[in-house]
Amino acid sequence: MRLDRFLANLPHCSHRQARLLLASGRAAVNGNTVFDGTHDVRIFDRIELDGELLQAGKPARFFMLNKPVGCVSATADPQHLTVLDLLSEPDKEELHIAGRLDFNTTGLMIITNDGLWSRRLTQPESLLGKTYLVETEDPIDPICVDHFAQGLYFRFENLITRPAELELLGSHRARLTLHEGRYHQVKRMFGHFNNKVTALHRERMGPLLLDPTLAPGQYRSLTPVEIAQV
Ligand code: URA
Repeated sequence: MRLDRFLANLPHCSHRQARLLLASGRAAVNGNTVFDGTHDVRIFDRIELDGELLQAGKPARFFMLNKPVGCVSATADPQHLTVLDLLSEPDKEELHIAGRLDFNTTGLMIITNDGLWSRRLTQPESLLGKTYLVETEDPIDPICVDHFAQGLYFRFENLITRPAELELLGSHRARLTLHEGRYHQVKRMFGHFNNKVTALHRERMGPLLLDPTLAPGQYRSLTPVEIAQV
């Protein structure tokens, strides 16, 4: 949120008063006086007015989880276990999932309270690859390599998928890297060739690799190096 809007949301402070407060150097963000009303403030910022604390600022939190089969990528679900149920952390309602996975898809799941950071990781414009290990019911036709690289037509969205890299690992196994995240994308790409995906596991999102020491259902905090890579 912009700092002028944040101030104007205070009781008894109009937009005009907020502008005046800013112009007279009475507002500070993380200890620095800020005059610019368009300055973006987030829940992690400490905001003061005349030295009085308006928002204490919260630490940013980042986790990687090895999602097990049969768990919903949602913050709440009336029926099933959710990814957030697997976290023993306070204030879980502040966390969100960066890049969902289907109910039976396993592997790397990133959970954070930092929306700008997670957008960098997931938005297609950043072109960060997401890599999946795929197992299929029928043998994978090697022509898929070229077709996936050229892009497939998705009728529902009326678009051509971005070039994707398919590496064949066996007759029924492959590693696929996508640079976008359409609904059920991997299943639909193989479905295009009438081949059913029987197992799907995400091993990488951009620079972040699933920690091999995490058993299904386990999680850990990201390291400062991992956070800075995104
Ligand atoms: N593509 C799918 O079809 N499912 C997932 O969970 C992720 C990518």
